[in-house]
Amino acid sequence: MPILVTGGAGYIGSHTCVELIDNGYEVVVLDNLSNSKPEVLNRIAEVSGQSVRFYQGDVCDKHILNQVFAAHSIDAVVHFAGVKAVGESVEKPIKYYQNNVAGTLTLLEVMREFGVNRIVFSSSATVYGDPREVPIKEDFPVGPVNPYGRSKLMVEDILRDQCTADPSFGACLLRYFNPIGAHASGRMGEDPSGIPNNLMPFVTQVAVGKRSLLQVFGNDYDTPDGTGVRDYIHVVDLALGHVKALMWQQESSGIGVFNLGTGTGVSVLELINAFAVVTGINIPYEIAPRREGDVALCFADANKAKNELHWEARRGLLEMCQDAWRWQKNNPQGY
Ligand code: WQD
Repeated sequence: MPILVTGGAGYIGSHTCVELIDNGYEVVVLDNLSNSKPEVLNRIAEVSGQSVRFYQGDVCDKHILNQVFAAHSIDAVVHFAGVKAVGESVEKPIKYYQNNVAGTLTLLEVMREFGVNRIVFSSSATVYGDPREVPIKEDFPVGPVNPYGRSKLMVEDILRDQCTADPSFGACLLRYFNPIGAHASGRMGEDPSGIPNNLMPFVTQVAVGKRSLLQVFGNDYDTPDGTGVRDYIHVVDLALGHVKALMWQQESSGIGVFNLGTGTGVSVLELINAFAVVTGINIPYEIAPRREGDVALCFADANKAKNELHWEARRGLLEMCQDAWRWQKNNPQGY
């Protein structure tokens, strides 16, 4: 029975579709293409050797959801669809609550009507806010500091309550750290629209000549080299975490919360240096003021996923840089 992947044409969603197919799952994709292009579906088919059933539409649209669930006996849902720019969420909070919270509620209503009771949810390390210490464990206090993070935590609470109300319902909440990199084929990767918010796509766009200079947002943090430290995880490792989450739900019921990270913190300058090591390209940068909302340190304790999902990140920083560059070099204008 197929897995519905909402947001399956997105960066993480598309890589997850490939790994689901490689692990024997049938995939149906629903995506409104607000932050992705139809070409992604062709690349999923090319890379995985299997085309996916695609519906263009929004999880907020109950009509299209009814159409999808009526046409396919969906076994479980992997739910990526949503909006995810922290800065934008501060300027447009209603857009974030509408898409991320109300959209999920509509999805859950239709799942209930069709008797589908398993979901893997794309949550985020931003639910932790500014952690009191690192590495971060799943039982640390949560405290999101922006509407994006708050919308993710609201959905986590909704799913927790649903699992309490209905013992047959299962939800796996995956708290992503910083996904970067691309499928090793170089045919799929991160393709942000407009000026990239995130570090790695900005680095690769400088390297390919699309941008001239990287701004490093602050070098006066309390970190080894003064620049921000994050837990960068290869997007394929992240995708495989979703496969393991579906397998976990076969054996377990109720709620599961897992950090998906490597457990290693890497600074901005360390990432730039690693990129230069594997590509031979030195990224020109200037030190700029700190970015509003940034924290100094954020990286995971990933042991719970290792012990309970039997999953761990295996691809290192050099491979992440290599794969990110191969994608950007082969696709200078993205998809
Ligand atoms: C990483 C580091 C910046 C850009 C975000 C979202 C989070 C998650 C992952 C969805 C920081 C520095 C960045 C640049 C820089 N997405 N930086 N110059 O902010 O840790 O997390 O993406 O779930 O929700 O908040 O990632 O890549 O934006 O920043 O110096 O041009 O790179 O200051 O230290 P972040 P990022």
